[in-house]
Amino acid sequence: MDRKEQIYTAVKDVLPGSELSDVAVAEQFCDYCIPCFKFAKLLRKSPAVIASEAAAKVAIPDMTVEALNGYLNFTVSRVAAVEGMFAHKLGESKPLDGTTVCIDYSSVNIAKPFHIGHLMTTVIGGSLYKMYRALGAKTVGINHLGDFGTQFGGLISAFRRWGSDAALEKRGLDELLELYVKYNNESEKDPALAAEAREWSNKIEAGDKYAVGLFEKFKAITLEQAKKVYGRLNIEFDSYLGESFYVDKVAAVEDRLKAAGLLRISDGAEIVEVGDDADKMPPALIRRSDGASLYIARDLAAAYYRHDTYDFDKCLYVVASHQALHFRQLFAVLKLLGEKWADDMVHVSYGMVSVEGAALSTRRGNVLFLSDVLDSAVVKAEEIIKERNPDLENKAEVAESVGVGAVVFDALYDGKAKDKNFSLADALNFDGETGPYVQYTHARCRSVIAKAGGASGAPDCKLLTDDEAYEVVKLLSDFDEVVLSAAQKYEPCYVSRRLVKICQAFNRFYNADRIMCGGAEQTARLALTARVADTLAYGLSLLLVDAPERM
Ligand code: ARG
Repeated sequence: MDRKEQIYTAVKDVLPGSELSDVAVAEQFCDYCIPCFKFAKLLRKSPAVIASEAAAKVAIPDMTVEALNGYLNFTVSRVAAVEGMFAHKLGESKPLDGTTVCIDYSSVNIAKPFHIGHLMTTVIGGSLYKMYRALGAKTVGINHLGDFGTQFGGLISAFRRWGSDAALEKRGLDELLELYVKYNNESEKDPALAAEAREWSNKIEAGDKYAVGLFEKFKAITLEQAKKVYGRLNIEFDSYLGESFYVDKVAAVEDRLKAAGLLRISDGAEIVEVGDDADKMPPALIRRSDGASLYIARDLAAAYYRHDTYDFDKCLYVVASHQALHFRQLFAVLKLLGEKWADDMVHVSYGMVSVEGAALSTRRGNVLFLSDVLDSAVVKAEEIIKERNPDLENKAEVAESVGVGAVVFDALYDGKAKDKNFSLADALNFDGETGPYVQYTHARCRSVIAKAGGASGAPDCKLLTDDEAYEVVKLLSDFDEVVLSAAQKYEPCYVSRRLVKICQAFNRFYNADRIMCGGAEQTARLALTARVADTLAYGLSLLLVDAPERM
């Protein structure tokens, strides 16, 4: 039984009408509290009187109960809290066991660079994937590739006019990007180019061997680069089914829409009217008058496919906020079709990213590749590490973990709705609220333990009740609950923020309480240090960040 349940069980007869949710984690004065204001009417007494009468009647082992200003306050005995923390195995409870969560994230576009704009979807989605899995859910990571559209016809034209196999072989995605930019510039001047592009894109759709072969090559080049980045970010996917997979499944969606009387023809195009007075939105465009299916049509087909294949309890789409209308329309169409499971779909949206003030555009070629950002972070990390710890053995390996970790941790440190201006110098500040700070604190814990020859032996919990140690204990105690609420609110920052707090509290403890003091104190302090290290490593792994043993 957890603390809240323990409190609720003890008070429920004394406070008629009380519920488990009345027990709150206290901000100050104590550990838990119950505000008594809502009982005043029923009991015809003032909240202060209710609280003090209840305080006199309720007794809970290991807790003191007091009344203050209409609140019933509960303070857990420190020894009991320390014991409780050690008794609980980190990450062992699996509250989401038996559920299935699909997460659509990163979802890169073929022949487009993996630029900094994809950072957020990739790391928020990747982190939620790890959290849901750690909480016991069956997770399905989906990279809904942007592998369908007329632009690939354009790319083939451009490749035939200005490119070559040799250049493609040698320069890979850089070559594709250049061809794409050149195609965009030239087709503004030369309308013949667009017609040619359309022909090639028809050929891809018709399964023409040469056109499909070229397209597959573009796809392989894009994926090879993306997978390198995924490797560095500790990201995994279970499915790479992209938009092209759903093209021939749009007809079945149209059949459903027709059967439900929802499909209208407007100017030769197929549309579905969505929204109402309270929730106004433009109609969803299913098929253009020239017969081409649209993005939302393929997403409708994908939604049915995911529902039929995975029978999900939740299907998340981690996509930037500028696609908010698209997802509102998508969910609205599914609801009009009577699909109850549309309520289990969530657009996990996030704000814009800029890098030290520079806005990012993808069409004009002035793009910032994510791999370049990671590389410069690693170079800077290596400089810092050389200065701080010249004797470290595997500097390059640690620099990779620290540099990449700094970027990812920084991306996951703010609420996702906020626009993000990214600064490498801030992200790499070892003394700031950063990934390197957490990694460094973790390494420091490990090296303290190594110097002591390990941290074994049962701790005497009453030796960890001084203010500094106890502050650490409190922050470690409910770590699993923090992970659960981060997953349920789609906010990895709950975890990153808690990790920084643990580090700050640990460093205060480390300065106040000498660890290598011998005797039972040393055993207890080492045990706490080990628990801090384990929690930091576990938390970092949920945020896709490595935890080097030495730094
Ligand atoms: N490829 C799209 C983009 O980069 C994102 C796809 C998101 N997922 C989806 N099912 N629509 O904008």
